[in-house]
Amino acid sequence: MEKPLENPLLKTVGGIAAERGQQAFVIGGYVRDWYLGRPCTDIDIVVTGSGIEIARELGKRLNTNVSVFKNFGTAMLRAGDMEVEFVGARKESYRTDSRKPIVEDGTLEDDQFRRDFTINAMAWSLNPDDYGDLVDPFGGMEDLEKCIIRTPCDPDRTFSDDPLRMMRAVRFAAQLGFDIEPETFDAISRNRERISIVSTERITAELNKIILSPVPSIGFELMDLTGLLPLIFPELAALKGVDRVGRHAHKDNFIHTLKVLDNVARVSDDLWLRWAALLHDIAKPKTKAYDPKNGWTFHGHEVVGSKMVPRIFRQMRLPLNEKMKFVTKLVFLHLRPIVLSEDEVTDSAVRRLLFEAGDDVEALMTLCEADITSGIESKVKRYLENFALVRRKMEEIEEKDRIRNFQPPVSGELIMETYGIGPSREVGIIKDGIKEAILEGRIGNNYEQAFALMEELASGLGLSKK
Ligand code: CTP
Repeated sequence: MEKPLENPLLKTVGGIAAERGQQAFVIGGYVRDWYLGRPCTDIDIVVTGSGIEIARELGKRLNTNVSVFKNFGTAMLRAGDMEVEFVGARKESYRTDSRKPIVEDGTLEDDQFRRDFTINAMAWSLNPDDYGDLVDPFGGMEDLEKCIIRTPCDPDRTFSDDPLRMMRAVRFAAQLGFDIEPETFDAISRNRERISIVSTERITAELNKIILSPVPSIGFELMDLTGLLPLIFPELAALKGVDRVGRHAHKDNFIHTLKVLDNVARVSDDLWLRWAALLHDIAKPKTKAYDPKNGWTFHGHEVVGSKMVPRIFRQMRLPLNEKMKFVTKLVFLHLRPIVLSEDEVTDSAVRRLLFEAGDDVEALMTLCEADITSGIESKVKRYLENFALVRRKMEEIEEKDRIRNFQPPVSGELIMETYGIGPSREVGIIKDGIKEAILEGRIGNNYEQAFALMEELASGLGLSKK
């Protein structure tokens, strides 16, 4: 396949650099992703000398704004749907008397040597005499073909320069289904404690990318094997392990959680549904108990777990908004469809679930179906059949009763108006009574029947119309 170098923008960049006696290259993710056949809209350009003036000149010719970040020596502009970033090639060297690197201008190869992984250090020349040539001194193409994540230089140095790269290694392995080369892997284990100097926001951004990858368990297993997991996500690491009393052992909840996450990932790209999968059993270590009659139990783990969600979101600098509420709700409700399908599927139980889950009921059912990870085929089959029945019942009842976004057919205002009373305990009792009657199926979800029940309840409370 032709490289996307016919792009006039890239030709112009090469031309401007040449006019100025500089050299320019496309480098990093754009090159890697093109060989992998993945779409990419960020183009990184590395130039010898400074990139800022070249970016300014390109901005002038394209008649577009250039953002300059002087401190970093970088500049960025947008061209159509592409974001083009310019940076000067750099070389870092260490003085013997200081750990602080001196950053100085370097060659392309100096710059490639200090990048994170060989697959991210490949470059295409934009220079007129060898336009389009691949410059790959560290074997990025070979690693790409062998599906390997490896650092161009000594991995201890690569990770000590920027410890976030340890998370990036895991993330690329999960996103691309690549292996981390053994020396690189060992260096991650050795340097794992250094992750503590990286900001939570950057770690969480990588974690989200791992969660969004096709088979997220790959990333979590690698975090576990390298020892990063307990450092960045202790609550999840605590799910590991199996306790035994005599012949009674419970399942390893870490392995189970990863299966549920992969199951969800097969059917949904929703980051927050995937987070709910990751957190659904998060309180199992806290609620674990051994009962000689029933074996291992985790009573109330859905309640305790739902209370842990906001704290985990705060710790991880995840958004404290309706996404967090969604995850909290799903963790809280995750046992309900199972319990419901174990018994007879009654209309009132389905109505209650619709009422509590509201518009998130589909997501909840997806999570619950993913939660069935038993190895016993007949058991899985029975559960899934019951869930199909629950789903059918839900549709039927929703069509009939419209419970999903339940609005009380008789409002608190109407009750107060009818009986000439203010906000009071009585209003609450009547409203609740009506809601319960609708969920139980004793009355329909309509104004006439609700109004009649209001009159009945009010007279029971000794209220008379004004
Ligand atoms: N890079 C690096 N070390 C980092 C981050 C980035 O060496 N900690 C280099 C890599 O060469 C990378 C390039 O900077 O390819 C661009 O970084 P970025 O845009 O963050 O990543 P991409 O590789 O483009 O991948 P993605 O867009 O998936 O994050």
